[in-house]
Amino acid sequence: MTDTSTSATLYQQLGEGAGIAAVVDTLYRLIMDDESLAPYFATTRLVEQKRHMALFLAAATGGPNGYKGLNLDAAHAGRGITDADFDKVIAHAATALSEAGVDSETISTVAGALMPLRAQVVTASSVL
Ligand code: HEM
Repeated sequence: MTDTSTSATLYQQLGEGAGIAAVVDTLYRLIMDDESLAPYFATTRLVEQKRHMALFLAAATGGPNGYKGLNLDAAHAGRGITDADFDKVIAHAATALSEAGVDSETISTVAGALMPLRAQVVTASSVL
């Protein structure tokens, strides 16, 4: 059994900065087409948001740490984001990765890496 995939960082498996930028582009297209999610971003400057998300994901997947935005708690505080919203964004991220040709094992790894961020993002009062 070969073991080449595990020696590359997740960042490399995603196609580095350019690959992540393409995935983030698709992700925000899916989010803005989703009427349950789009209202959260009604006043958002999407170009900036995509740039921040791409830099955040690069750092989170073992790439360069160029993210200079807010920490995730501060970025999502007071927005009333629910568990269901979070699950939808993760599902859209999986679709975006799949559309970019990322294999399903890597998609599962990315989703697994994002799951622990739920507590920082979900701010609806139903959550402790
Ligand atoms: C793992 C999941 C998520 C990650 C990694 C993430 C990451 C980020 C990042 C990096 C920012 C930028 C902060 C800054 O500019 O300083 C941000 C802002 C934001 N996020 Fe998320 N996010 C996630 C899930 C969600 C979900 C589920 C929602 C709501 C459906 C959401 C709504 C927002 C909004 C409304 C902003 C502020 C946009 C603005 O500046 O106008 N995020 N997020």
